[in-house]
Order: sequence, then C-alpha cells, then structure tokens
Amino acid sequence: MNLKIGVIKGDGIGPEIVTEAMKVLNQVGETYGHSFDYTQLLMGGASIDVHGVPLTDETVAAAKSCDAVLMGSIGGDAKTSPWYRLEPSKRPEAGLLRIRKELNLFANLRPAVLYDELKGACPLKEEITEGGFDMMIMRELTGGLYFGERKTVEEDGVMTAYDSLTYNEKEIRRIAKRGFDIAMKRRKKVTSVDKANVLDSSRLWRKVVEEVASEYPEVALEHMLVDNCAMQLVKDPKQFDVILTENMFGDILSDEASMVTGSIGMLASASLNETKFGLYEPSGGSAPDIAGRGIANPIATILSAAMMLRYSFDLDKEADAVEQAVLRVLSEGYRTIDIMSEGKQQIGTEKMGDLIAGYIE
Ligand code: IPM
Ligand code: MG
Repeated sequence: MNLKIGVIKGDGIGPEIVTEAMKVLNQVGETYGHSFDYTQLLMGGASIDVHGVPLTDETVAAAKSCDAVLMGSIGGDAKTSPWYRLEPSKRPEAGLLRIRKELNLFANLRPAVLYDELKGACPLKEEITEGGFDMMIMRELTGGLYFGERKTVEEDGVMTAYDSLTYNEKEIRRIAKRGFDIAMKRRKKVTSVDKANVLDSSRLWRKVVEEVASEYPEVALEHMLVDNCAMQLVKDPKQFDVILTENMFGDILSDEASMVTGSIGMLASASLNETKFGLYEPSGGSAPDIAGRGIANPIATILSAAMMLRYSFDLDKEADAVEQAVLRVLSEGYRTIDIMSEGKQQIGTEKMGDLIAGYIE
C-alpha cells in the first residue's frame, strides 16, 4: 500500500517521540512492502512561532488530504512560555481543539492496558492489579464543555464566566454506537459514565445510550456516575472493558487510567471520524520539562502509530507486529526513565525506537 501520513511533530517532546514512531513505521513499510509518504504539518506552539496562530487553514486542508495524521504533542509551560501570553483562542491548545472539530474527530479511543512487564511501575497494590487489566476509554471529542458557548462578562460589577455543556441526541448516538461496536470486539461490556444525578446533558446521554444498547443485546450496559468511576478506577480497574463518556469526563478519567497503568508515556490514542481517517497521538502531554533531553518515552506514540495501521489502514498484521515488538523490548528489560524499576536497563528515546524497529518481524 502507498499511504500519505500527515505528521504533526508539535512541541516539547513531540519531535523526539514522533521521530521514533516514524522510524518504526518505516521499518514496517520495509518489512511488509508499504510506502509511507510523510507531509510535515505545523500545529500548536510550533505553528505560532512561524504563522502567529496555532493552526492555519492551509494546515487543515493539508491534513484533510492525508490518509491519516500522526501527532506528537502540543503546548508548553504555561508559566514561562510566551505562547500563553496570547489570548486563549490563539494558544497552542486552540489548534488541537480546532483540528478535532474541523476533521470531525468525534470518537477518541484511549486504551489503558497494564502490561505484565510493567507491574512494578503501577502505583496500585498488587492484589488490585493481579492478572492485569485492559480497558478502552471511548471519549466523545467534539462536543460538551469544550465546544459549548463560553464568555466572560461583567454583570453588576462582578466578573462572571460561562461555559456551556451541550449535547444533542445525534452526537450522543454516534459515539455510543462506536462504544458498543468496540465492545462487541472485546469483552462485551460498556460502562457509560455520566453525572445524571445533577446534569440534564447526562440524563439525555443516559437515555440515548440505553436506546443504542437495545440494538446490541449481547453487550452488557451499566451506568456509572463520574465521581464513582474516578474512585472505581483505582479501587478495581479490572471491572472495566469499555468506558463510554463525554468529552470533559473522558479527559479527566483517561489521565487517571493512564497513571494506573504505570505511566502516561505508555498510552496511545486514536481520534476518528465517520470515515477511515484518524488522528493518532499519545495521550500524554508535551512534557516541556524533559524536552530535548532524549529521555522521553516514545512507546505511546509508537503504539498510536500501531493504532493508525489498524484503524485507518486496516493493516492488522502490521499493527500486531508493532505491538509485539513493544512487548518484546519490555520483556527484555529495557525501560525509559518513566517506567524504570530495579534490575532493568535504562535507555533513552532513540535507543527505544531503534530496539522496537529492530524487532519488527
Ligand atoms: C488531551 C489534552 C487536551 C484535552 C488539551 C491539551 C486541550 O488534555 O488530549 O487529553 O483536554 O483534550
Ligand atoms: Mg487530557
């Protein structure tokens, strides 16, 4: 296959980790006879530095012309970076939100898996994680608080800020369907997370999810309030298969889920629209504090590239090969600093990429 991949290296550790993922993809191409053609795209701080805005119309158009986009991370240190002296709509994050919306990437898949090899990095007690866990967070990505009307106004001499949380039934139905479809390929359980004891948007969410569930009689559905879910994730993470939730809850719960797997540096993600197109990025941030030091963990980005092979290109064998290579490197004891534990061998970003690429077979 001949595939066109948009590459947003981004900010912070982004360029380092994306370089390693491209190295692994190139090896996949060589081994399996595909050619990947990369188009570099600027977004976030890197785009502000060149164009004064975090995302240009030209970049959106270029991204749309690709088969999929691989992204590192965007954003910098909010206290020290000049990007954060710009108004909110011109900051790095605004670029990410805009590209999600423009490309209609409403379905964000964030798998959280505890690898046997990384048990030592998991902060939970062993009796809780015994046997490992494997969940998929299905986060709605183009609605809710992130895209509702917002404003800050002075009312009777008092500064007041508004953010509105809006969902219509169509938006809920399409993400719920995705959640149930994925559950059918997994352990057939969906935990729909909301705050239906308080929010109208959650009550509509629950109603629509139940309607969708009736089309999937084999899938067990349960509803869980978001505060309880935050607690259950550390109390008994094994209970989860697919967690289906709205944008803001998914943002928070996916960071929590990543930490119980041991490191945010291990978590891949895919953001998909109605077609095969997707944007693939690690769940972690740009980590400006460790940028440029060659110590960042590239595995989340490499696993995101594997998701790209699987979901956008239907190259399952190739995706398996990447995941197997990651497992092999871990089982041989190689670790970046974030997942380092006693008796293992600490290596840097580049070496990790080399090893994984070398194990593609
Ligand atoms: C994420 C990030 C983004 C989000 C930020 C950078 C806007 O935290 O992808 O989880 O909140 O969606
Ligand atoms: Mg987040």
